[in-house]
Amino acid sequence: MGKSIGFKKIETAIFISGTGSNLNNLIKFSLQKRSPIKIDLIISNNTNAKGLRFSKSYKIRKKIYDFRKKSNSENQVLKDLKKNQIKLICLAGFMKILSNNFIKKFKGKILNIHPSLLPKYKGLNTHHRAIKNKEKYSGCTVHYVNSNLDSGKIILQKKVKISKKDTPNLLKKKILKWEHKIYPKAIKKVLSNL
Ligand code: GRF
Repeated sequence: MGKSIGFKKIETAIFISGTGSNLNNLIKFSLQKRSPIKIDLIISNNTNAKGLRFSKSYKIRKKIYDFRKKSNSENQVLKDLKKNQIKLICLAGFMKILSNNFIKKFKGKILNIHPSLLPKYKGLNTHHRAIKNKEKYSGCTVHYVNSNLDSGKIILQKKVKISKKDTPNLLKKKILKWEHKIYPKAIKKVLSNL
């Protein structure tokens, strides 16, 4: 009596291949008192991913698999996820395509962030392509992962104006700031609907 009702943060794994600015941002988000997630595991296909340094600084377990033998690596990852009771997967600059079999096992529990206004500009080099096509706007999208690349149901999207001076690199930086805002929001949205 009189005690506040505790809530349990959802065990989450983040998959990365590179810099990890979204990873860092999601870790900070997870550390907020009322955050709905707790990050227990970082998975990468790339030993040299810069973002892996956050494993050490935040004391979060990391696992690296090369994914060249995809089904072997995925089976190992599935074991790791089970061992750590992972309930939610957030892809954050993860450059490998997960198999149907893997996705089925985490149906509706895998999110991705993509730097374009999906369904436009799926795949790589989004900023370069948007500028080249003289788009007025680009942006970023958080979506569920399904078996087609960058095609799952959209959860949240932010439109960002492309200015005449924008190079792909400037646009990337501009959009990345918004990615850091919408990914936590999208996670809250998804988890409040569970
Ligand atoms: C982001 O632009 C994300 O949208 C895309 O890959 C990039 C990863 O950046 N999927 P970072 O590693 O989180 O800094």
